[in-house]
Amino acid sequence: MSNPSLPDLNRFGQIVFFTGAGLSAESGIPTYRGRGGIWREYAYEDYACQRAFEHNPEKVWDFHDKRRERVAACEPNEGHRIISEVLRAKPNSCVVTQNIDGLHQRCGVDAAKVIELHGSLWRVRCDREGRIIDNDQVPINPRTCACGAYWRPDIVWFEDMLDPKVLDRARQALAACDAIVSIGTSAVVYPAAELPCIAMSNGAVSIEINPEETPASHLYQFRIRKSASEALAMLWPPA
Ligand code: OAD
Repeated sequence: MSNPSLPDLNRFGQIVFFTGAGLSAESGIPTYRGRGGIWREYAYEDYACQRAFEHNPEKVWDFHDKRRERVAACEPNEGHRIISEVLRAKPNSCVVTQNIDGLHQRCGVDAAKVIELHGSLWRVRCDREGRIIDNDQVPINPRTCACGAYWRPDIVWFEDMLDPKVLDRARQALAACDAIVSIGTSAVVYPAAELPCIAMSNGAVSIEINPEETPASHLYQFRIRKSASEALAMLWPPA
């Protein structure tokens, strides 16, 4: 390994990749914070919370249709590809992601191995009927369920609670893993931001990949200040 201080991750059988928007940045999907961040251009109060949806569902859907269009035009990148390969080789490993873009699955990762903490851009639900369905239309059409109610993106918006079952699965995976590789998250959104600590307090080796320092950086044993694809290629060099 070119950097002798980094652990050889091939020694570990159960790795959790804890991913955020920075992983998909190299695919051309904007992150949320920082320069070019989505929440700099759009006030989340108007586009990504239940109140906004109830007040103006068309405006909220216009925003989500734009996001669908952008994500659909992007492809998984080298970082997604390396993660997908590692998961193939290590069947007890998984992804815990804050991303809603579905790029891990599009890169060949079994959906059962991707724990989506913040939901998915590619699912909608009818809160009147209590029904959730997959939907990959761009734009979605119609925007309403057969019962007449608006479909709601099955995304954890600001002020929403995370699905307790999903959170439970994430906690179990983190408690059981022997290595955690956090990639491209600003670590400011809770409860997601505190989940890596479960792995750390159970003795897992911890690595943070992020070109920038985050509020959680000091918790990690190893910090790689590079882009996701560069850092992953360093950890898993091509054969
Ligand atoms: P953020 O936009 O908050 O943070 C993205 C992080 O990625 C930053 O720390 C960047 O430094 C880093 N980054 C940028 N380019 C990178 C690259 N090429 N390689 C590696 N890292 C890079 O995104 P998240 O932490 O994922 O919620 O945001 C958390 C949640 O806040 C999201 O899930 C979203 C948002 O509100 C929902 O969509 C429900």
